[in-house]
Amino acid sequence: MSEEIKPEVINGEATQDGAKTDDYILEVVDLKKYFLTRKEFKLVKVPVLNNPDPASTAMQNAASSVELPEGDDSIVAPETPVEKSDVAPDGATNAAEDDKDNSGDEKTKVTQFKRKIILDKTYVKAVNGVSFKVKRGETLGIVGESGCGKSTMGRSILRLFDITDGKVFFEGTEITALKPSALRKFRTQMQIIFQDPYGSLPPRSPVGQIIGEAVKVHNIVPKSEYRDYVIDIMRKCGLQDFYFDRYPHEFSGGQRQRICIARALAVKPKFVVCDEPVSALDVSIQAQVINLLKELQRDLGLTYLFISHDLSVVQHISDRVGVMYLGKFVEMGDEKDIFNNPMHPYTHALLSAVPVPDPHYKGNRIVLQGDIPSPANPPSGCKFHTRCSRCMEVCKHVEPKFKDYGNGHMCACHLYPQD
Ligand SMILES: Nc1ncnc2c1ncn2[C@@H]1O[C@H](COP(=O)(O)OP(=O)(O)OP(=O)(O)O)[C@@H](O)[C@H]1O
Ligand code: SF4
Ligand SMILES: [Mg+2]
Repeated sequence: MSEEIKPEVINGEATQDGAKTDDYILEVVDLKKYFLTRKEFKLVKVPVLNNPDPASTAMQNAASSVELPEGDDSIVAPETPVEKSDVAPDGATNAAEDDKDNSGDEKTKVTQFKRKIILDKTYVKAVNGVSFKVKRGETLGIVGESGCGKSTMGRSILRLFDITDGKVFFEGTEITALKPSALRKFRTQMQIIFQDPYGSLPPRSPVGQIIGEAVKVHNIVPKSEYRDYVIDIMRKCGLQDFYFDRYPHEFSGGQRQRICIARALAVKPKFVVCDEPVSALDVSIQAQVINLLKELQRDLGLTYLFISHDLSVVQHISDRVGVMYLGKFVEMGDEKDIFNNPMHPYTHALLSAVPVPDPHYKGNRIVLQGDIPSPANPPSGCKFHTRCSRCMEVCKHVEPKFKDYGNGHMCACHLYPQD
């Protein structure tokens, strides 16, 4: 007899029938994930101060610099000021910029320059400081343009990436501070369903083995119950018993995504990151998979972080929605508030692009100008100011606060009071 998965078994004392409470399962505090994308050596001219103080000397000798021998003319020093590279997360700074600042302040003291080679690093700030909480049993939908950092955020929360900065608490435990051995216990409780049901299944393993592998590794059920348990999960996910010995290539996209869902749920998780789980599927199959996810949430008391481009899907499945732009949240709130009463100009633009199934509907489509800026060099002030039709002077210089404007409706925009 297979083990029946019930909410109380999965969540211990937690939710019955997925009821939402004010009990937070996940808290993310100022999470940052930068990717190092380019390293190159640059030759820079560094001013030599007549009476250097210890602090400026330390800066001149900043990390990753190599001094050229006196009189070495093999490399010609640039005459124009060298642009500042990003500040590295490990605190290493671009010596050229520091020294340029010093030379500005203390112009009279600079009598000569020496040349240095510095290591210039470029970071993509994929996730650039996000903070939020997720209630037990709810679905938090995450929307935003391609490249805004949705997947990186989801994977960083699960610690599939080493994060650059910030904290993630899962049921009160700071999992970002855990060593890999201690983290293992949380691996089963936090799972992910990937976007691509074709690429995320090993082609040479039969379905039963794919779904059951982690069940064995983590001793989820006794060995004698293993097969029955896996078949039970498969049934719950709409897969027939005889699929157990079949291989992934024998299934359609929708069936494969069900296998991915079954694999994630087999280890009895409490929290699942669904990273665009339906975007590779056609519309009718999308609806089946979304309904399956909702059903499983209700039956098993799951909490979802649901990432998608598709606002209609997000509206259908989410309790709350967060809107991301260039690695940050610009708006977050209850699904109804976001869809009926959006505050941020970026959310307005996203919503105006949702197709309406009415041939007579004349929507007021807001077309965003230009491309999304590079996350390696985000604009100053409001990150959206380069594309915002309501941009004011203050937006270009001062980053707006991400503030609660009532009922947990958060927004970061200078159009609303900042104090
Ligand atoms: N391993 C990596 N190395 C370097 N840069 C990366 C890496 N992974 C992601 N990025 C960059 O980080 C940024 C955010 O990527 P991410 O995949 O999180 O975006 P996304 O919002 O999930 O996009 P999409 O909707 O297309 O899936 C992008 O600019 C991307 O190029
Ligand atoms: S802060 Fe300014 S630029 Fe940014 S979204 Fe608001 S109005 Fe637009
Ligand atoms: Mg993604």
